[in-house]
This record gives sequence, structure tokens and C-alpha cells, in this order.
Amino acid sequence: MIVVLLGPPGAGKGTQAVRISKTFGLQHLSSGDILRAERKEMTELGRKAQDYMDRGHLVPDDLILAMMMDRIGRPGAANGCLLDGFPRTVAQAEGLDKRLSDRGAKIDIVVNMEVDDAEVTRRVTGRWSCPTDGRIYHEMFSPPGKAGMCDDCGTALTRRKDDEPSVVAQRVKTYHAETKPLVAYYQSRGLLRPVDASGTVDAVTVSIEKICRTK
Ligand code: AP5
Ligand code: MG
Repeated sequence: MIVVLLGPPGAGKGTQAVRISKTFGLQHLSSGDILRAERKEMTELGRKAQDYMDRGHLVPDDLILAMMMDRIGRPGAANGCLLDGFPRTVAQAEGLDKRLSDRGAKIDIVVNMEVDDAEVTRRVTGRWSCPTDGRIYHEMFSPPGKAGMCDDCGTALTRRKDDEPSVVAQRVKTYHAETKPLVAYYQSRGLLRPVDASGTVDAVTVSIEKICRTK
């Protein structure tokens, strides 16, 4: 099964992807997490991506498609994969469809996580993440047990560089201009499943699980 999580920055894609991939035995592939790892390792791709990411713009489609198709092709979880943050433009979606079809595969479900701009800004600006295991926290909505420390591994939590308010505003703008057209793209292909992502983390998980169980 191939599931895509679509939604604005801060919709809760990463938070839900961790839970859903575990429940359904899917490999969680987050384009943002992979890019941040490439930056940390100072690879050529990481160096090319950093300026776009820091300004809240999208990394060029050809780089993203090559990076993600390489990961999708690797042996992973038995039941398929969960794509988080990819595709993000119509060109990426078309490229993904074509390359999957060449491999005899296809997307099964596109979950569209709907939440308004004011809420995504509140969520992203309060986010803290664990640099070791990727666990995501929010200073008000899902704080760690001990302030500033990951509940699972005790690592000091960090803030993402692109969560600074002016960059968040640009990321939301980029979402509306470049990613939102994917709603119509997947709707016309009968794959889109809308989810109200403004509720609690648990309520959103229940909604997405229900959709994934239909496949
Ligand atoms: P990426 O890392 O994908 O960032 P994003 O899409 O902007 O989304 P986020 O990771 O910020 O939010 P999320 O939806 O995962 O929410 P989260 O679960 O963390 O991309 C970063 C950059 O990389 C891009 O700007 C671009 O430059 C580049 N890039 C990546 N993919 C690309 C692509 N395909 N093409 C081109 N460029 C690409 O939750 C957010 C916060 O809210 C957390 O604090 C969480 O605790 C809290 N929260 C979550 N759910 C709830 C809830 N239900 N109620 C209350 N709080 C909640
Ligand atoms: Mg994320």
C-alpha cells in the first residue's frame, strides 16, 4: 500500500506519519526529514537544498524526485510506504505517478489534512523536535514530560531553523501557490480522502486509521 499525507506545514503530517506507519507496517518516508539528514551530513544534495529550505521555498523538483524514488525503491517495510511531504507540486505528482507505473505500482490513498493557516502557524511556532529519534513535541499541545528533553531518549530538544515566524509565513504562502493544486489533481483521480486535522492528535489518528482500513 502507498499512502500520501498531504497538507500545509504544521498540519501534523510528521506526527501522524509516525503513528500510522507503525500501525499499518508502512515505511515512513518524510522528504523534509531526509533533506535535513542530507544537510547534516553535508552531502551535495544537502548543500544544494539548504538555501531553499531556509527561505521557505521548495527544493527543485528534479532533485526531490530523484531523492524520493531512490528511497521508495529500497527494501523497507513489508506493507509499503507512507509518503510525508512528497509530492508537493503537480510536476512531482506526475513524475511519481509515471515512475511508480513503470515499476507496476500506484498510489492507493491520498489523505488531505485540512487545517487553517492560523492554526498551522500556532503549531509550527511551538514545535520542538528530538534530533536523535525525530519525535515531535509542542510546548503547549504535546509537551515532553521533562522540559526541553525527549521522553524516549533524553536528548535535548531543538527547534527547526525554518520555524522562525517570517519563514513559516513564506512556507504557508508556498503551500497555497504550489502544493494546494494537488488537492484537485488527486480528487480528479478518485484518490483524495479529506480529514479534519484541526482536532486533537488522537482524534486525527482515528480518522486516518479509518481511511487506511478501507484498503
Ligand atoms: P517539511 O519538513 O516537510 O516541512 P512542512 O511540510 O513545512 O511540514 P512540517 O514538518 O513543518 O509540519 P508537519 O505537517 O509535519 O507537522 P508536525 O507533525 O511536525 O519540509 C521542510 C522544507 O523542506 C520545505 O520548506 C522545503 O524547502 C523542503 N521540502 C520538503 N519536501 C519537499 C518537496 N517534496 N519538494 C520540495 N521541497 C521540499 O506538527 C507541527 C506541530 O504541531 C508540532 O509541534 C506538533 O506537536 C503539533 N501538532 C501536530 N498535530 C497536532 C494536533 N492535532 N493538535 C495540536 N498540535 C499538533
Ligand atoms: Mg513534518
